[in-house]
Amino acid sequence: MPDKTVGVAILGCGTVGGGVVNILRDNHDMLLGRTGIDFQLRHVVVKDRSEYPPNAAELPMSTDANAAIDDPASEVVLELIGGTTIAGTLIERALGLGKPVVTANKSLLALRGPELFALARQHDTCIAFEASVGGGIPIIDAVLRGLVANRIDAILGIVNGTCNFILTQMTAKGWTYDQALKEAQKQGFAEANPTLDVSGRDAAQKLAILSGLAFNARVVESDIHVEGIDKVEGADIQFAKEMGYVIKLLAIAERANGDWISLRVHPTLVHKDDVLADVGGPFNAISVFGHALGHALWYGRGAGRTPTASAVVSDLVGVGMGTTALSFRQLRTLPDMTSKANVLPFQELQSRYYIRLAAMDQPGVLAQITAALGRQGISLSSILQHEAVGTEHVPVVITTHVAREGAMQAALKEIDGLPTTASRTVCLRIVDQPKEFGGR
Ligand code: HSE
Repeated sequence: MPDKTVGVAILGCGTVGGGVVNILRDNHDMLLGRTGIDFQLRHVVVKDRSEYPPNAAELPMSTDANAAIDDPASEVVLELIGGTTIAGTLIERALGLGKPVVTANKSLLALRGPELFALARQHDTCIAFEASVGGGIPIIDAVLRGLVANRIDAILGIVNGTCNFILTQMTAKGWTYDQALKEAQKQGFAEANPTLDVSGRDAAQKLAILSGLAFNARVVESDIHVEGIDKVEGADIQFAKEMGYVIKLLAIAERANGDWISLRVHPTLVHKDDVLADVGGPFNAISVFGHALGHALWYGRGAGRTPTASAVVSDLVGVGMGTTALSFRQLRTLPDMTSKANVLPFQELQSRYYIRLAAMDQPGVLAQITAALGRQGISLSSILQHEAVGTEHVPVVITTHVAREGAMQAALKEIDGLPTTASRTVCLRIVDQPKEFGGR
C-alpha cells in the first residue's frame, strides 16, 4: 500500500518529458517500493496534437496547460517545455496556486531565477531544478546540500555536451569545426540551430545557476564573460596538442582578489594529464574545490532523454517526500535570498595565455612581439615556431605565465598593429588545476 499518492502534470512531452513519462510508467513500482509514493500521471500537455507521442492513447494527453495546472488532481507541475516566455507564464501560474514546480529550464532560471524563487516563497511552495545543470548528474543537490559544510573556492567544468562532442571530434580526428558540427548534428547531439550551445550561452546559463548556489550570491547570465567554440580552429587544437594541452569549453567560477567572483565561459587549454582532458564526447564533468572536502569531480551524461529525466524524477521524489519544500524554506542560499554577486571585471582576470599569431619570417619580428608583451609586464612561458614552408607568414605560438587580461588585450592590440604580423592574433586561456586534482 502506498503511503500517499502524488498527482503529476507534465508540461511538454519532447525528449525530456517523454523520458520522464517512461520512467514514471516503467519504474512506477520501483519508485513506489523505494519511496512509498504512488506517482500518478494526471496530465501530459503538449502544444498541439501533432506533438502527441506514439503511446498517446495510454496517456492523459491534452493541449490545455492552464487546465492541467489548475486541476486540483495535479499536485506537482513539471515544466519541461523550455524557453523563457510560455514556460515562465505557466510556472508563475502553478506557483501562484501554491503548487511545487520541477523544471529543467536553465534559460529561464538564469534570467528570472530570483523572481521565480521569491514567487514560490510568497506562495509557500518550492521550485526544484536539478535537471537544469549537468543533465543527470546530481550537482545541484551536491552544491546545495552535500557540500554545505564547505566554502567553495572554485567550480569549473564541462557543462555543454554538444561543444564537448565537437571539440573531441576535432581533436581526435583532426576535423574542422564545420565537419565536427555536422557530425554532432547527424548524431543528434547538436540542434539544427546550434547557436545556444556553440556560442557558450548554454554553458553560461548553467554556470549562472551553479555559481550562485556555490558562492551564495545572485548571478545572472549577463554577469558572465562568454566566448563560444565557433571560432576554435583546427590549428589551435593541433598546436595545443603539441604543447601537451587539450582544448575544452570550460565554465569557470572562482573566488578572486578577495571578495570578487570571476565568472567566465571560454575555450580553455587544459593539460593532457588533467582529469578534464579525458572527458570526451557528449559527457559533462564538473570539478568543485571546497575548503573541507578538497577537490571532487562529478562526471556523467549532461544531456539526453533518460539522464535528464533521471534528474527530473529525483526532484519529483524530493517534492513528493516533502524534503524539497523543507530545504527550500530553510536554505538561505537560493537566488532570492542572496545579494548580487561581486563580479570581477573581466579585464582584471589573472590567467595564463596561449596566443597564436602570423608573423613575417624576418629578422627582429619575434623581438617586436616579445617586447610588446614585455611592455605589459607579461612573462613568456614557451615559444613554438615551425620552419616556414613557402609562405610569407609563419605561425608563432606563445604561452605565458599568469598575466592580467587587460594587459594581454593591450599587448594584443599592439601586436595586431605591427606591420610584420598578419590577421588577428588568436588568444586562448590556459587553466591549470591544482596538482592534487589534475595529476600533474
Ligand atoms: N544542449 C545541451 C548540451 C544540453 O549539449 O549539453 C541541454 O542543456
